[in-house]
Amino acid sequence: MQKKLLFICLGNICRSPAAEGVMKSIVERHGMEDRFYIDSAGIGGWHVGDLPDIRMRREGARRGYNFNSRARQFTPEDFNRFDILLVMDSENWHDVRRRCPDMSKLDKLQILADYMTRHPNVRFIPDPYYGNENDFRYALDLIEDACEGLFSSLKREVD
Ligand code: 4NP
Repeated sequence: MQKKLLFICLGNICRSPAAEGVMKSIVERHGMEDRFYIDSAGIGGWHVGDLPDIRMRREGARRGYNFNSRARQFTPEDFNRFDILLVMDSENWHDVRRRCPDMSKLDKLQILADYMTRHPNVRFIPDPYYGNENDFRYALDLIEDACEGLFSSLKREVD
């Protein structure tokens, strides 16, 4: 069975494209590309078509990733197209929840940070957009932790 995952943040240029890239890289490392379909989207449409923010691309490159997806806007139809929708913070959660077209699909909505194992007291992945290099580094630390946890929890289901 293939799992379809959608990572969602506000702009789709910092956190969710990084989560998309990290998760794709974990899945590739395990040779399981055919078991997953992975995408990301933003709640806002301001950056549609853009590459990820250069600060996130740089931090990713330092760790061996190439974040090169193009931003797109989330649509309610994504609730039909994906199995799991993973948001970064509580604002994202409320925004996406409000756009859910069918309440029976609401259990697809999850908080990415809930999969972290190395940051037990952190509940959300904060927006680094108005921050500095340290904020981008921290966001990517959290994203790597969460994506590893997410992969561990899903790999049994797709095996
Ligand atoms: P992201 O960060 O949600 O992690 O992609 C942001 C990027 C852009 C904006 C806000 C957050 N913005 O307002 O343009």
